[in-house]
Amino acid sequence: MLNNQHQFNTSVAISTEDVDRINKKFYGRYNFPWYPSFLEKYSSQALWLTALNQELGYFDNSRVVNQPKIWVAGCGTNQAVITALKYPESEVLGTDLSKESLAAARSLAEQLNVTNLRLEERSLNEVCYEEEFDLIICTGVIHHNYDPSMPLRALTKALKQDGILELFVYNYYHRITTTSLQKAIRMLCSTTDNPNTELEHSISERMINDDSANYSDFMSAFINTMRNWNESAMADAILQPVEYSYTVESFDDLVQQCNLEIVAPCLNSWDKAEGRLSWDVKFGDEKVQQQYHTLPDVERWKIGNLLKLEQSPHIWFYVQRKDSSYAAKPIKKICEEFLSTRFTKMSCEYQHFVIQDDNEFIAEETPKSKPHPKFPQDKVAAKVFMKCKGDKTIAQILAELNLSLSQYEINELRLHLTTPAYPYICAV
Ligand SMILES: C[S@@+](CC[C@H](N)C(=O)[O-])C[C@H]1O[C@@H](n2cnc3c(N)ncnc32)[C@H](O)[C@@H]1O
Repeated sequence: MLNNQHQFNTSVAISTEDVDRINKKFYGRYNFPWYPSFLEKYSSQALWLTALNQELGYFDNSRVVNQPKIWVAGCGTNQAVITALKYPESEVLGTDLSKESLAAARSLAEQLNVTNLRLEERSLNEVCYEEEFDLIICTGVIHHNYDPSMPLRALTKALKQDGILELFVYNYYHRITTTSLQKAIRMLCSTTDNPNTELEHSISERMINDDSANYSDFMSAFINTMRNWNESAMADAILQPVEYSYTVESFDDLVQQCNLEIVAPCLNSWDKAEGRLSWDVKFGDEKVQQQYHTLPDVERWKIGNLLKLEQSPHIWFYVQRKDSSYAAKPIKKICEEFLSTRFTKMSCEYQHFVIQDDNEFIAEETPKSKPHPKFPQDKVAAKVFMKCKGDKTIAQILAELNLSLSQYEINELRLHLTTPAYPYICAV
């Protein structure tokens, strides 16, 4: 077993070259992700950069430099384009091993006249960038490789000493159903050692549409949801030839092995949609809660992963080089700084492009603005937001509102107001 990650469907993983070849073919056939229905084009990156720095715990906007050089590693069809549109003042590089996915990205970039993006066909297993990037985004990529630590080492090498890497790998407890189904399909098709995606695809479609099979309730419920999925989503979930998945514990081991360390969780759109904002556990028992809070962040998140299982967040973290000149800030300290900071409302206009029937994107005449919706939906966050006028600290606002929040609630408030998922306020 390679390292101590959880191996699931890795029987075709014979060598790096084999797996790269298999992935190239797979993502050539199933471009991922599928076409977005809209795209947002910004003329300034201030809102995104501020929110990113705030999520990392730097309310003075100092952690990630002003015009970060960005690499979207394993960018698929649109992630590098979306990043270049959000960071128009930065140089963005997008790489992927799938020619077809890059062609889709190129076509999007041309349609939206994106001029700050370079796209290159490269495997992460063969790149040799050295200390080049301030920000690297690599989501959903390394767990599909022969040995995930190999591309991760390449990312470490490419990161500047004080750079930040946004990294997402599968959560072991999210993958139980998908991986069991995937393995069953592969056994059914006798393709465990030799992928035959077309055969697996046709058998999966039949299984998805089979109303009378006596699968477990859990499996039936999952299969039912897949009936509305498009081909790429289905393929990504159950036909991907190689996948590893991780717990916070094994993820921490993996990043440590690659000379990296966890900085903070990254609140992503999936967890936002599910309302899974925090890794922390809320215990009803005071003694247990106190004991829990004696532990460092990563240890608490490991426990959160074990106790929340399938309801824990995605393993999606910001990490940095172990030799970074910044120490990873404990969440408690970030919350204290949040409480003692004055904030004002932030907003930013963007051009909204909507997809047409012929897959062309057309700009709407009137610009839209972020954040959207205009007011936080969370009740406490909305009350605090209304009072953020740059004159009072969050602690003063909470006192004025007569709100006494626990450590857990303060952290949720911070996430609900200051992060890229909820970019409502910025420090003055
Ligand atoms: C699940 S998709 C994720 C795409 C994108 N990162 C996102 O989150 O939307 C995985 C992508 O990683 C790419 N990929 C996998 N292994 C790679 C490697 N070794 N080097 C470069 N790209 C790779 C695939 O071609 C595919 O486009």
